[in-house]
Amino acid sequence: MKRIVCLGGGPAGLYSAILFKKALPNARVEVYERNRPDDTFGWGVVFSDKTMAGFREADTPTHDAIVGGFHHWDDVDVHFRGQRVRSGGHGFCGIARKRLLNVFQDRAAALGVEQNFQHEIGASMEDLSDADLIVAADGVNSQQRSLHADWFKPHIDVRKCRFIWLGTEQKFAAFTFAFERTEHGWFQIHAYQFSSDLSTVIVETREETWKAHGLDKLGTEASIAFCEELFRQFLGGHRLMSNARHLRGSAWLNFNRVLCERWHHGKLVLIGDAAHTAHFGIGSGTKLAMEDALSLVSRVASASDVGAGLERYRAERHLEALKLQSAARNRMEWFENVERYTHLEPQQFTYSLLTASQRIGHANLKLRDPGYVDAMEAELARRCGLTEARPPMFLPLRLGSMELVNRVVVSPMAQYSAREGLPDDWHLMHYGARAVGGAGLIVTEMTCIAPDARITPGCTGLWSGEQRDAWKRIVDFVHQRSPAKIALQLGHAGRKGSTQLGWQAMDHPLPGNNWPLVSASPIPYLAGASQTPREMNEADRLRVRGEFVHAARLGSEAGFDMLELHMAHGYLLASFLSPLTNMRRDEYGGTVANRLRFPLEVIEAVRAVWPADRPVSVRISARDWAPGGLEEADVMAIAGALKDAGVALISVSTGQTVAEQQPVYGRMWQTPYADMIRNGVGIPTLAVGNIFEADHVNTIVGAGRADLCAIARPHLADPAWTLHAAASQRYSPQWWPEPYLPGKSQLEHHLERAAVAVGAV
Ligand SMILES: Cc1cc2nc3c(=O)[nH]c(=O)nc-3n(C[C@H](O)[C@H](O)[C@H](O)COP(=O)(O)OP(=O)(O)OC[C@H]3O[C@@H](n4cnc5c(N)ncnc54)[C@H](O)[C@@H]3O)c2cc1C
Ligand SMILES: Cc1cc2nc3c(=O)[nH]c(=O)nc-3n(C[C@H](O)[C@H](O)[C@H](O)COP(=O)(O)O)c2cc1C
Repeated sequence: MKRIVCLGGGPAGLYSAILFKKALPNARVEVYERNRPDDTFGWGVVFSDKTMAGFREADTPTHDAIVGGFHHWDDVDVHFRGQRVRSGGHGFCGIARKRLLNVFQDRAAALGVEQNFQHEIGASMEDLSDADLIVAADGVNSQQRSLHADWFKPHIDVRKCRFIWLGTEQKFAAFTFAFERTEHGWFQIHAYQFSSDLSTVIVETREETWKAHGLDKLGTEASIAFCEELFRQFLGGHRLMSNARHLRGSAWLNFNRVLCERWHHGKLVLIGDAAHTAHFGIGSGTKLAMEDALSLVSRVASASDVGAGLERYRAERHLEALKLQSAARNRMEWFENVERYTHLEPQQFTYSLLTASQRIGHANLKLRDPGYVDAMEAELARRCGLTEARPPMFLPLRLGSMELVNRVVVSPMAQYSAREGLPDDWHLMHYGARAVGGAGLIVTEMTCIAPDARITPGCTGLWSGEQRDAWKRIVDFVHQRSPAKIALQLGHAGRKGSTQLGWQAMDHPLPGNNWPLVSASPIPYLAGASQTPREMNEADRLRVRGEFVHAARLGSEAGFDMLELHMAHGYLLASFLSPLTNMRRDEYGGTVANRLRFPLEVIEAVRAVWPADRPVSVRISARDWAPGGLEEADVMAIAGALKDAGVALISVSTGQTVAEQQPVYGRMWQTPYADMIRNGVGIPTLAVGNIFEADHVNTIVGAGRADLCAIARPHLADPAWTLHAAASQRYSPQWWPEPYLPGKSQLEHHLERAAVAVGAV
């Protein structure tokens, strides 16, 4: 390559110019920047201590100059409701954006990069036609990305908050978050010191709160005066300052989350904020931009096929950007919805903030600052009436008359092993083993209320006295041989019924002897394969409601501690809730209140026969992962209605409503929905979905994101998941079955020795 042009003199453009010039000293490398060298919006940027190592190898002089300019700090302070909670060990560093850019500019000049400031590149890109590579590092509002939007296919999500990036001479001892309530809503600051005499203060609030205060009509000076007044107590008498003079329009910005489907077009390649953004809540936009530059140069500079190199760069960085955006999204949504968390005590509020990205968990926080986590555990224990602190997963929980010894739940999992709906020795072994395995609560597989309510011929049922007695044998075993409680999950398969066993062609109809199906609307689950269900009429509703009541009565006679109604995963009751499966034009379809009508009728009827002191829970799918599916407002309305109907717990799953769903999986991927409902509606929730480590449970419960954590597949691999989790955390008060106690002491001994060997104790 002979000529490389970088459009934009931000971190992405300058760092890639430096690296290209180093890799290809004979090439002409140019940077075009519309502003002057010292003109920059913003104040400081944050890196974590960990981040910098990769940059040393790439270019030691810039690395050393950046590190030399760092202001370090370790603590995070959260000021909320008149209290300050401090947590240590976070290891961050900040540098002035201006200084960072000057470091890059000096290094680029020393290497012979041609830098052209006050040079706007127009749409025509005149004089650049003979360039071999054009690096579009022109920031979040990239003109190049817009010009070729049909090709790059950017997804731009304009978020719910407004923020203004300010500076101050106040010196913050820690990374500081402060929250202030006004008559129109909450404002927060993210503040940190980035040089010996300056700090960044980002003020953020919801768009509607911002408008209600008339900030959309105020100029920058008046906005600053407003912020100074609101956060006066944190500013130590110092002023706030703006350097956003050259920004067009308001200095208050919306964060735009950007990700592109394609990253290169011929010889044009997107990099940094032009290709993707990451919310400042996770402080990594500059790091991402620099890492893009590293990847781009290493993939392209020496490639014989530049196009293939660009594609390798995209593949590598796209995945990284996705991961970071996912962590940043959780944190960004936490700040957008901060109002939801303001009912938490300052300790837990802080913990919830610190763990919001789902990247830092309980164990990691404990490593960073054991004192802070110990205080948090003690506080949580105190609130449960305990005098001894313990990991949050081992805190008890009471729901109605049901007292759980810990927060671990064996998630309902169909065994497809019953005949005529009758549970047998397999089920006794399956549920029994998991009860003695230490979980606080066992939830049965979806147990069907009638033969034609089954998903498969192997599903368990509860419509006869024989089935009741078979279940009672299991319930009695759990009660007699373990401290666990056991809940009965009742359901009707609806349009997903009459299908093959889970390990056969799942969701596909039986080869023969299919039974007729009913659903909210006559839509087959698998187009072209599934049976078309009949739209339920009044007689069907009465019959199904009666079957739920009958099954609930049998369940209560069997001695179950809790009843869970299955209203998730596209089964019958769920088919009423989702607009994708409910097309009815009568009072059972249309608005969310109408779609709730039949499920609520079932709850009311069941509640009348189910013992008043024993709790009822409901499992819902809080998102359909398909266009036109449930919206957040629908889910909140559903959760609110369930709460009003006396439901004690919502088990929050997602999806499986329609076959064409596009879920986004990841660790704890459904937990944000349990969090949204618990803290938005004020009802206990159960989180489920790829929660597979004890640390996940501790963090979710500790943060008040959910009250219980259900663990499904890991319990298939390890019935004693909780006993192992207790031993690995050295939580020795954990109950073990007496016949297994020698196994407990040996396991604890081995784990202790292994910990000593790696120096963990
Ligand atoms: C409020 C806020 C706080 C942030 N805090 C942090 C933080 O703490 N840590 C962190 O790592 N990141 C932070 N970021 C993100 C960070 O600023 C960006 O992610 C980073 O600057 C991206 O670098 P870039 O080079 O891709 O884009 P930019 O830094 O935006 O650079 C793009 C450059 O291109 C120039 N340009 C654009 N169009 C043209 C044109 N047509 N002709 C000539 N020049 C052009 C612009 O003037 C600009 O200098 C924050 C962002 C915001 C908004
Ligand atoms: C084999 C199997 C059977 C399942 N059967 C049911 C069921 O009967 N009722 C239900 O609500 N969920 C059922 N699920 C979903 C699980 O309860 C759980 O929500 C899901 O597996 C995600 O949790 P995990 O990531 O811990 O596995 C089943 C899951 C599996 C793997």
